[in-house]
Amino acid sequence: MSDDTGLEGFLDELYPYRRDSETYRAIPEHGRPVADVLAEVRGYAAREDAMGDEGRVSWSLYCGDHDHYHVLSEVFEEFAHVNVLQRDMYPSATKFEAEIIAMVADMLHGEAAGSDVCGVVTSGGSESLITALYTYREQAAKERGVTRPNVVIPTTAHVALDKGAHWLGIEMRHAPITDAYVVDVSAMADLIDENTIAIVGSAGNYGHGLIDPIPELGQLALSKGIGLHVDGCLGGFLLPWIELSGVDVPLWDFRVPGVTSISADTHKYGYALKGTSTLMYRTKALRAHQWFTYPDWPGGLYLSPGLAGSRSGGLIASTWASLLLTGRDGYLDAARRIYDSAQAIRAGIDSRMPELAVIGDPTFLVAFTSATLDVYLINDELKRRGWRMNALQLPPALHFCVTRPNATPDVVDAFLADLHGSVAYAKAHHGEPAASGAMYGLGGTPQGNADVNALMGGYLDAMHDVAPDAS
Ligand SMILES: Cc1ncc(COP(=O)(O)O)c(C=O)c1O
Repeated sequence: MSDDTGLEGFLDELYPYRRDSETYRAIPEHGRPVADVLAEVRGYAAREDAMGDEGRVSWSLYCGDHDHYHVLSEVFEEFAHVNVLQRDMYPSATKFEAEIIAMVADMLHGEAAGSDVCGVVTSGGSESLITALYTYREQAAKERGVTRPNVVIPTTAHVALDKGAHWLGIEMRHAPITDAYVVDVSAMADLIDENTIAIVGSAGNYGHGLIDPIPELGQLALSKGIGLHVDGCLGGFLLPWIELSGVDVPLWDFRVPGVTSISADTHKYGYALKGTSTLMYRTKALRAHQWFTYPDWPGGLYLSPGLAGSRSGGLIASTWASLLLTGRDGYLDAARRIYDSAQAIRAGIDSRMPELAVIGDPTFLVAFTSATLDVYLINDELKRRGWRMNALQLPPALHFCVTRPNATPDVVDAFLADLHGSVAYAKAHHGEPAASGAMYGLGGTPQGNADVNALMGGYLDAMHDVAPDAS
């Protein structure tokens, strides 16, 4: 394969196994011995987990406690094979799911909205967001006859909303942000028309971790008679505990009039295994628009809560277990340490690195930009020093989304020292092209000089196909 597309470098960096493992292009003739398969899988896991376990990774690895993962996996094992559709055989799925929803409703102050607060468990933040869009689309079609729906979101809202709008035939309108990097409420108001089915705010958003002015958005939604979804996928399981620890966190949950739904991810700061989130609704009447029923199918009366058909009972059981095992004291303790670490990072940047500017007023995620330096050069050097940050664009910035494995004074001190060194590197190499850029989910963009926009489809192919020349 020629390297002028950047794909070779991409594969080398992201997929070393094409060179040093056997590539299966067909199911093996005979089943492999258990010990063999386990040894191979454990080899990959050990190699891949090392960096995260050292606390040098921003975002995504929220818990870091392998004992916790192990217990959750034991719970998962009990129901891994179970399809939660078969509630007659496996009624515990109803207990687990209903109690997850009840516990999340309590955490998000559902009592302030009355006893009708309810929800569903989904497969992750994206599914929660896309499902919310679907629910508002159905509601507006049935109650208001809206056939050309639009939704207004901050430019900083999570991109899964754009994906969902694309899939569901909804027009997405993007409201700009203010100098404080939160949504400009009056600009949002200007984008609302008679076909607007809902608006969205984040608590906090992916890029900068900031909380949009939810009380003002709530007033706007109420004045227009439309829904307000709060994307708490990231902050939903953290901000309540930061607030309980005594920090002045702006209101964003069901205490805010006008908030009609909230997404909060169990598989992020809920410390559950990957694969679950919650989508909470202020009323059962709103949630009812999410239900799909089809009585005339030869396969039987069909009733389905959401996108998925079969779902594993293991994930629901282990998510329930994560909430119980962690407990209020566990969430509170982790939140305090995460908040303190993020504030120490923020203070270190503010006091020691005048070349950098922290974005907004962060709680648990510290994003920074620079007016004078190329932040992607800073990221190149951080990467060389063993850190995996998230790179952003528009404007170029980096963020450190602090999670439990990062939340120790040692990690914070080491990070600040390396960030300082990386700023010096960026100064010394000013004007040179950075090797990394900003690609969501990755620690940087391999082949940062390639035209990544033109190559994005090719990158997705490369991540899903067996490499053609893997020899
Ligand atoms: C604010 C926010 N919303 C939604 C998502 C999407 O969540 P998921 O990756 O579980 O689909 C993320 C992911 O980090 C996020 O930060």
